[in-house]
Amino acid sequence: MEYRRLGKSGLQLSVLSFGSWVTFHKQIEDKVADELMGIAYDNGINFFDNAEIYSLGKSEEMMGRVLKNKSWDRTSYTVSSKAYFGWRGKENKPNQTGLSRKHLTEACHEALKRLQVEYLDLYYCHRPDKQTPIEEVVWTMNTLIQQGKILYWGTSEWSGVEIMEAHRVAQAYRLIGPTMEQPEYNLFNRNKMENEYLEIFKNVGLGTTIWSPLASGLLTGKYNQGISEGSRLSIQGFEWLRDRTYVEAKIEKVKQLEQLASELGARTASLSIAWCIKNPHVTTAILGATKKEQLLENLEALEVLPKLTTEVMAAIETIFGTQPRLPEY
Ligand SMILES: NC(=O)c1ccc[n+]([C@@H]2O[C@H](COP(=O)([O-])OP(=O)(O)OC[C@H]3O[C@@H](n4cnc5c(N)ncnc54)[C@H](OP(=O)(O)O)[C@@H]3O)[C@@H](O)[C@H]2O)c1
Repeated sequence: MEYRRLGKSGLQLSVLSFGSWVTFHKQIEDKVADELMGIAYDNGINFFDNAEIYSLGKSEEMMGRVLKNKSWDRTSYTVSSKAYFGWRGKENKPNQTGLSRKHLTEACHEALKRLQVEYLDLYYCHRPDKQTPIEEVVWTMNTLIQQGKILYWGTSEWSGVEIMEAHRVAQAYRLIGPTMEQPEYNLFNRNKMENEYLEIFKNVGLGTTIWSPLASGLLTGKYNQGISEGSRLSIQGFEWLRDRTYVEAKIEKVKQLEQLASELGARTASLSIAWCIKNPHVTTAILGATKKEQLLENLEALEVLPKLTTEVMAAIETIFGTQPRLPEY
């Protein structure tokens, strides 16, 4: 396993990590979660990602049970939570969502309880909150750090401007600013990582824990022949992922990637993940899996990475053509 520093912090995360969105509680039970986290840990993964909203709190509870059962040395892994959406779904009342001091603090306490840990290594603002002053967010995160309840704080799907606003406030009051961002990043969605955040990487430093490296499974090639029962795109509530216009044009590209993968002696999934971590601005790519075989296949990305020569990267670009166009000055 390779380890990378999280932005300008001293924290080292495994370049591949493991998350529980959709899978924990909705698709898999404790036994499989235990098996998958075990495989991840045994292969050197040291970051497990979660959020209050995942399966409305049940995902954190499940991960908490697994962590307790494993009794791994707490110093050997990192675990996260994210707040913003709340965990009561349609029952959410005012103050049970968003980034107010009240919700960020209470959501942190709830996550600690569900995950059965004394502190969160990483704590994220799951989305920007346009209604809460950025000063309140930065002060709250700084306070949680001072209280020892979280170690690093960050953002997810914030714009570059919003991240820089948080840094401006942190600097003005000598507080700890955001260390990391969690954006979607895969062969279909590249703008934030390859365009919008470039100046932040250069001038301030920003760790990234990127999500959906396989675009929810699309980049494995599993949907090239249709949607199979039990896969994510077949699940009720995830219709938005199987919107035909969303999927069809993409499948055409994945078919070509599949061909390239076989020429390299790699699998499409591991090639797609290797492509993500080839970007040095990626600290870690968070994997998702419902089966042991999937996770083992995805871990092969580490072996595929050295095969990504300039020529191979160019061939991938020719297939996808998704690289953001940057100004020429
Ligand atoms: N911050 C955010 O807003 C945000 C949003 C989304 C996710 N995340 C984080 O990022 C993590 C990863 O996201 P993701 O789950 O969307 O990642 P992904 O890698 O794009 O998709 C994972 C899913 O693809 C399928 N799959 C994975 N490997 C496969 C393989 N080798 N062969 C066939 N199918 C395979 C599995 O679904 P099926 O078996 O059901 O087909 C698996 O659950 C999440 O767990 C979460 O921690 C964060």
